[in-house]
Amino acid sequence: MKGIVLAGGYGSRLYPATKALSKQLLPVYDKPLVYFPLSVLMLAGIRDILLITTPEDKNTFQRLLGDGSNLGIRLEYTVQPSPDGLAQAFILGKDFIGDQDVCLILGDNIYYGNDLIRLLSSGVKHARENKKATIFGYYVEDPQRYGVLKFDSQGKAIAIEEKPKSSKSNYAVTGIYFYPNNVVKKASEVKPSKRGELEITSINKMYLSEGNLNIEIMGRGYTWFDTGTPDSLLEASTFIQAIEKRQGLKVACLEEIAYEMGYISKSELINLSKLINNIQFRQYLTKIAKYGREK
Ligand code: TTP
Repeated sequence: MKGIVLAGGYGSRLYPATKALSKQLLPVYDKPLVYFPLSVLMLAGIRDILLITTPEDKNTFQRLLGDGSNLGIRLEYTVQPSPDGLAQAFILGKDFIGDQDVCLILGDNIYYGNDLIRLLSSGVKHARENKKATIFGYYVEDPQRYGVLKFDSQGKAIAIEEKPKSSKSNYAVTGIYFYPNNVVKKASEVKPSKRGELEITSINKMYLSEGNLNIEIMGRGYTWFDTGTPDSLLEASTFIQAIEKRQGLKVACLEEIAYEMGYISKSELINLSKLINNIQFRQYLTKIAKYGREK
């Protein structure tokens, strides 16, 4: 399976912080926001990843992440000339996707929770074995900002509405989506919505009407942030700070995940740590190399 991080957009709600810098490069506590979605793809076992950015920000992302070889992954970059909608990712990424299944994650989404890997692996499996798409529903206070799930009396999801005025449930569709390869063809059939965007909800509705949409509920044991506003960005930073300080373990540390997933060896991790000029961070990686994570 291939992965796409969609990291373009205007970031208008974060203006002026985003005037000269992409939202996904802004820090969440101790690391750039894009590390979080990237780490989720790596945890899902995805090592071939396309980063879609704005034309202005592409070079900065490349400077930050390079070709991924130091992390044992392959990173490619392409630009979205203007933010014409999430579904455009599959049009821009057509050649990159080739004949593979694909997972799309939004560049400003943060996921945290025990068993996240198991939840993600169900998306990988459904795409591969059943040719089904998988999306995740999460209970939120303000569902109107998102795609919202509607359920029947048996609790079966029967509809998805994009940013409804009055929502039929509190379950928002989160920003990670797993698809079989036919998503590329489906994306080419999507027409712009009233607000002029190629909506991911249009694609999800196609899978739903075919009976090929697997919907997983991400329960309250998981944390999902989308960090589009000053408040949500600050809340995410505070959350990550609290966890990292309490446990002494980092969230979304790409080098650590690459090592724990077996993408790089112990000596490669040690070599990486030697290049880091932040002493605490270097010591953290040295400790991981020596003892592993949970010893
Ligand atoms: P949004 O938060 O909906 O949009 P935005 O980032 O442009 O912010 P604002 O509404 O404040 O102007 O986008 C969600 C994520 O998807 C975010 O990571 C940006 C990304 N995105 C794209 O890369 N291309 C697009 O065409 C759209 C619509 C979003």
